[in-house]
Amino acid sequence: MKSPLVVSVTGAAGQIGYSLLPRIASGQVFGYDQPVALRLIEIEPGMKALAGVVMELNDCAFPLLESIEATSDLDHGFKGTNWALLVGSVPRKAGMERKDLLGINGKIFVGQGQAIERNAAPDIRVLVVGNPCNTNCLIAMRNAPSIPENRWHAMTRLDENRAKSALAHRTGVHSRDVTRLAIWGNHSSTLYPDFENALIRGTPVSQHIHDRAWLEGDFIKDVQQRGAAIIAARGLSSAKSAAHAAIETVQTIRAVTPADDWHSVAIPSDGSYGVEKGLICSFPTRSDATTASIVQGVDLGEFGRVKFQLSLNELLEEKSMVSDLLPK
Ligand code: NAD
Ligand code: LMR
Repeated sequence: MKSPLVVSVTGAAGQIGYSLLPRIASGQVFGYDQPVALRLIEIEPGMKALAGVVMELNDCAFPLLESIEATSDLDHGFKGTNWALLVGSVPRKAGMERKDLLGINGKIFVGQGQAIERNAAPDIRVLVVGNPCNTNCLIAMRNAPSIPENRWHAMTRLDENRAKSALAHRTGVHSRDVTRLAIWGNHSSTLYPDFENALIRGTPVSQHIHDRAWLEGDFIKDVQQRGAAIIAARGLSSAKSAAHAAIETVQTIRAVTPADDWHSVAIPSDGSYGVEKGLICSFPTRSDATTASIVQGVDLGEFGRVKFQLSLNELLEEKSMVSDLLPK
């Protein structure tokens, strides 16, 4: 039996936590031969609900679930952690943009970054889900300066999955037939789902969809606005699909990406594609089973470059809004 992997999840009593935790505990995320020790982190007002979540996890009697610790103490919650899933934060309400949450949520990621810096295992990997996830990830990373930049990720896989589903519905194929669909930029209403380099059954989307106006218009807009559409319908933000995308993000980083595909995750820029170094930006990435790296040489085309630039401008604006939370 392998030794347990320590997995910390913040906001563990929330909606996403409720969908995410049983799937981690079951072995689906880290492998069916890999025991996990869960550290569930909440703020004090969430601790009572978290106690109920812990009861339910215990009642599942998961064979791979080695231990569960519920805590509001960040040092305890991140002690020896190998994977930190930073979900805990306030979701937006109808009519808000995700960046409107920066004032409430941004500062959460200062303390969490510092606690990860003090406590995490040397092989720590972090996935930020809490919104606005790109800039929250930047805040946490900059407050944990000894942790290598390639350990930090923010989630845009949900947007990739949404875009694949939209193309599949339009063409009558299965979403698994859509590959190389990358989200560029911010997890926000400026994100760019790159339909020009995506493939359907191995051939360019343009060979399957001749309505370029739809691709440039409603397709992009619907992917950009899908989170808001779910809030309008449910009265709550996406949770099941968000938990699923978090799981796929971790699985993808922990596996070798096939050479003919790529996946979206926001990671610190290395200067590729003219993006400011260190900015947490979504790119097409491939993993070697430990580290996601930016796929080089993708030609966005003139239309895509303009769209991507709009999202980059927004990331820079968000960065300037939180300059007081970024140590020099
Ligand atoms: P929720 O309100 O149901 O749960 C959030 C939980 O976080 C609550 O239990 C709350 O007590 C806890 N929390 C708040 N501040 C905390 C802190 N400082 N430390 C630890 N826990 C804290 O919300 P949810 O639906 O689970 O969504 C969580 C976040 O994920 C939101 O910011 C939401 O916008 C974001 N989200 C991101 C994506 C994405 O694609 N990146 C998708 C869906 C949701
Ligand atoms: C989503 O994309 O569903 C989440 O980021 C939640 C939101 O606020 O839209």
